[in-house]
Amino acid sequence: MTLDSHSPVDGKRLLLIIGGGIAAYKCLDLIRRLRERGMTVRVILTKSGEQFVTPLSLSALSGEKTYTDLFSLTDEVEMGHIRLSREADLILVAPATADMMAKMVAGLADNLATTTLLATDKPVMIAPSMNSRMWHHGATMRNFAQLVQDGVHVIPSTSGSLACGEVGAGRLAEVDDMVTALENFFAPTGPLAGKHVIVTAGPTYEAIDPVRYMANRSSGKQGYAIARALRDLGARVSLISGPTRLDDPHGVAVVNIESAREMQTACQNALPADVAVCVAAVADWRMASEAPQKIKKQGGEIPALKMVENPDILKMLSCAGDNRPSLVIGFAAETENLHDNAKAKLKSKGCDWIIANDVSPRDGQSVMGGDHNRVSLITASGTEDWDNAHKDEVARRLAKKIEHYFIEHQG
Ligand code: C5P
Repeated sequence: MTLDSHSPVDGKRLLLIIGGGIAAYKCLDLIRRLRERGMTVRVILTKSGEQFVTPLSLSALSGEKTYTDLFSLTDEVEMGHIRLSREADLILVAPATADMMAKMVAGLADNLATTTLLATDKPVMIAPSMNSRMWHHGATMRNFAQLVQDGVHVIPSTSGSLACGEVGAGRLAEVDDMVTALENFFAPTGPLAGKHVIVTAGPTYEAIDPVRYMANRSSGKQGYAIARALRDLGARVSLISGPTRLDDPHGVAVVNIESAREMQTACQNALPADVAVCVAAVADWRMASEAPQKIKKQGGEIPALKMVENPDILKMLSCAGDNRPSLVIGFAAETENLHDNAKAKLKSKGCDWIIANDVSPRDGQSVMGGDHNRVSLITASGTEDWDNAHKDEVARRLAKKIEHYFIEHQG
């Protein structure tokens, strides 16, 4: 559970390199605050950093092992410096001491921190902190300018009383300011920034007994492509997904569910949202009651499976009252009378748009599980037939339509 699941750092991974400065203690609070916001924080503690904070306290707060020594063979085997970098979205050096900045500029790789910094292809941010004379020294100023030119991001230090008793520039930014800088760094940009979209995708599994279930052939490909396309336009996306073989899209909050009722609860929990796109192939029915034990063969007698109707999630979202997303979009997979059936569905579900797709096999190719889709967009103002296209392309086109909807409806 996170304090603020809307924070742009939610789900992001930070590799925090703690240099040797008295202000290192602020990193303890920083880690706590970032984790409350859903960020994963891994720490590399330099030798001189160890003089100010302990690996134990850092591990307790980060919930992760703290990495200290490049030449520990067990560390390298378990988690080499390349992997530490690969599994991060951003590297933050805080406090970035004069010595650390000089090493970064020179490209030295004499410990785990500097080796990681030299080997990384991830964005790097520094929060400088040092005595103000060291900060104003020509060498530090030159190094700082070079780092900025190299594309390193900066959380500026502030002026104030320093640990050495002097007053001046070089104080490590306050924890609040570091959190804000990280949130700003990860804040989405794009035409749908600030919009929250719920996407349902994949099949649902409806249990018959502890080992058997009813399912359908939905691959989830179209729904996942839509989630990615909306994320690419800056939307915050909650993807409520039935079981699929697909990788979780990066930067999307994925909630994995199995049954229609779980999908309904997950959608309710994800509200409020600006848009809902119901792509999931939700099972229409489930068992009236799930057998508590595996149903046994009974001497040739076929078990009668009594079913009841599942909740209609699209309808629920369309009728969510004050919580209704401004734009609710459904899919209508049909094998006949595509447009008429889809138009009827638009009315009966109460949604705003329907994407109608013909799921009858074409040229031996099935839409269910395939990579292509031919769809029509049906709204109150008419029908648009789109060419057969890759599901990623269909998704991008729909995302653009959603972007235009918000341009027209301002906000
Ligand atoms: O009624 P039908 O299953 O054809 O409707 C398809 C549309 O309704 C899709 O958008 C699907 O995601 C949604 N749906 C739903 N909950 C159900 C059944 C369908 O959200 N129980």
